[in-house]
Amino acid sequence: MSHSPLPRLGFIGAGRLARCLALGFSHAGYPVTAIASRTQASARQLASQIDHCAAYEHPQQVVDAADVTFLAVPDDSIGTTANTLRLDCAGTPEAGLRALVHCSGASPVELLSPARTQGASIGGFHPLYLFSGDRADTERIRGCSVTIEADGALKDTLSALATALGCHPLSIPAGGRMLYHGAAHYAASFALCSLAECVALWRTLGFAEDDALRALLPMLAGTIETARDKGLPNALAGPVSRGDTSVVRKQLGLLEGLGGDHATLYGLLTRRAVELARRRSAPPAAIEAIAEAVEESLERSVNHVMAGTSVK
Ligand SMILES: NC(=O)c1ccc[n+]([C@@H]2O[C@H](COP(=O)([O-])OP(=O)(O)OC[C@H]3O[C@@H](n4cnc5c(N)ncnc54)[C@H](OP(=O)(O)O)[C@@H]3O)[C@@H](O)[C@H]2O)c1
Repeated sequence: MSHSPLPRLGFIGAGRLARCLALGFSHAGYPVTAIASRTQASARQLASQIDHCAAYEHPQQVVDAADVTFLAVPDDSIGTTANTLRLDCAGTPEAGLRALVHCSGASPVELLSPARTQGASIGGFHPLYLFSGDRADTERIRGCSVTIEADGALKDTLSALATALGCHPLSIPAGGRMLYHGAAHYAASFALCSLAECVALWRTLGFAEDDALRALLPMLAGTIETARDKGLPNALAGPVSRGDTSVVRKQLGLLEGLGGDHATLYGLLTRRAVELARRRSAPPAAIEAIAEAVEESLERSVNHVMAGTSVK
């Protein structure tokens, strides 16, 4: 049985994400043949690190020299760039595929529809990883997931590329990207926002931010490890996990006293903690009492939120 050769890969955009993917794919044995960017210096700098890879002046030259082209530009430029590209889909390419792919988690794959109209395959390849732009990204990305939106041969190719980076391919249905991306904030920037809320509240007790972070980050790291080992419900700790209704009531009361949205935030997150507690063997009567206390507090806090004051 004869196998198709590996697809030639091209990149339009040579920023933080492209640097990791282009080097990672190349290390894994894929031919990364062509790179263009807004400035030639960026394209040359990346191409010079990859064997047999050319830096081009125009994005069109990348599409002409690759089977699968990654549009690794800022989200606002994906549609405008895709509109300018001509994909030559006459005849079957050697690797059996002619495709244009973007790497955004939020933007729709439909932005690439001009390529599909020309007969090419289109898809999304979104690594769940925050790229620093450093070379270390190619190692650190191992074990992450890459969310793939594509059909047929392109889906197989993108899944193989994710695996080649040491990542887990994750499939997303068409049209689901905006919700998927919005929800993922809870594991990235909103985790930082939770820390920032604690730092702000501790500041009222005279704690410096550095001291607070030194205390909080190991606890967060431990929580993540426990979640990895035992799952979310069993990693839940704190008063809700124990059914300590009086502690939750007193904390809600204190935060209501501070004004602003502190009690609302605590109340809404405690609602989610109650849902986790219901999924494990916690004392049900106490959990329901906590749920009641939260709803009462949320009702009272709405007025404070409208006033918009909070601890700075
Ligand atoms: N950064 C992350 O953590 C991350 C994670 C997952 C997904 N993504 C997605 O990956 C994509 C790229 O993000 P990034 O973080 O790598 O951005 P970035 O670091 O800002 O790099 C963007 C690159 O695109 C080039 N560029 C900008 N406009 C262009 C245009 N009109 N034509 C050709 N090249 C252009 C820039 O050129 P010059 O270098 O020449 O100025 C730069 O090399 C985005 O869709 C983003 O949503 C990023």
